[in-house]
Amino acid sequence: MGTQGSDEQGRGTGRRALLGAAVLGAGGAVLGLPGAARAEERHGGGGYKSLPVPTVIGHRGASGYRPEHTLGAYQLALDMGADVIEAGDLVPTKDGHLVCRHEPEIGGTTDVSAHPEFAGRKTTKTLDGVATTGWFTEDFTLAELKTLRAKERIPANRPHNTLYDGRWEIPTFEEVLRWRNEQTRKRGKQVWIYPELKHPTYFRKLGLGLEERVAKVLRKYGMDEKNSPVILQSFEPTGIQRLNKLVGNPLVVLLSGASTRPWDFVETGDPRTVADLVKPAGLKWIASYAQGIGPTLDLIIPKDASGNLTTPTTLVKDAHAEGLILHPYTMRNENPFLPANFRKGTDADGYGDAFGAFKTYFATGIDGVFTDNPDTGLLAREDFVNG
Ligand code: G3P
Ligand code: CA
Repeated sequence: MGTQGSDEQGRGTGRRALLGAAVLGAGGAVLGLPGAARAEERHGGGGYKSLPVPTVIGHRGASGYRPEHTLGAYQLALDMGADVIEAGDLVPTKDGHLVCRHEPEIGGTTDVSAHPEFAGRKTTKTLDGVATTGWFTEDFTLAELKTLRAKERIPANRPHNTLYDGRWEIPTFEEVLRWRNEQTRKRGKQVWIYPELKHPTYFRKLGLGLEERVAKVLRKYGMDEKNSPVILQSFEPTGIQRLNKLVGNPLVVLLSGASTRPWDFVETGDPRTVADLVKPAGLKWIASYAQGIGPTLDLIIPKDASGNLTTPTTLVKDAHAEGLILHPYTMRNENPFLPANFRKGTDADGYGDAFGAFKTYFATGIDGVFTDNPDTGLLAREDFVNG
């Protein structure tokens, strides 16, 4: 009831005081929502609740314009004005360092295949139940990984980004934190980051547990407090539960397709699917150890068989009722990644009506969005806030 009111307000006025306003927790507190009040109690009024809403999160940096998870991509996202930078997706090296790559397999995002000295490292592994062939970060020392260079992952969609192939190294998490500190000093304003822990169960089985390593690095940089400008995310709820015991940072559970099961659930025999987790009972359970969810955009507005957007689900209302913020993923400007009714032509590297899509998603009442194109997202937010 209360959050529906909040949602209606967003749709009705288009001028609600979103920018600079507290995130749902504060709105929820105003509306007297018990779940939101619990979140307020846990986190106080600062930290992530001071972020602009809807929050524009640079997904893997400004990865629409630069090879993802490079300091170049992070810097551009920040220079564009992104509120938060997803720096990075974290995976470990053989010697236990944390580095920023979307996946442990790095054949598609680095020049490793052009290094004859690493040809013998190419292998096939089962990663979260999927046979995956390539080169894996856990088979390389940090010193070895530092001899590689990043390249554009999807050149067919982003041919211009190949200009930057070979320009940047794979960053470590510590380098990201030092970059963050330096940028914060330069700007006189906190730079927010939003690292994701990739495949926690897979890496724990290899003796490379991520949660303790992330906590240790955050502690080293004084970034492990509830109001530290670092939000942590993972697709594995048990990873988030483990983090909840190690650090005070805001925590977000990522949610994939409705029919899928988080891989830690598969391993532990927990029968629940994402469809179960987005029901009120599942959201209440998540709210007992996390502050938000990161659902696919399809869980916010499903598509029909032709790929057109249909009617929003009740997920925004239901999550807000439990005091959870929602940061869905991922908005991208190129046609193939947009809902069919927002595409313009069929060029794989052509832009569709991304502004229209952003506007439609913002109108659901989401608290933010991951986007490869933070500049587009920021302009769309301006339009949305100004009606
Ligand atoms: O972290 C939000 C979103 O990035 C999750 O998806 O696969 O891009 O890491 P992915
Ligand atoms: Ca991610």
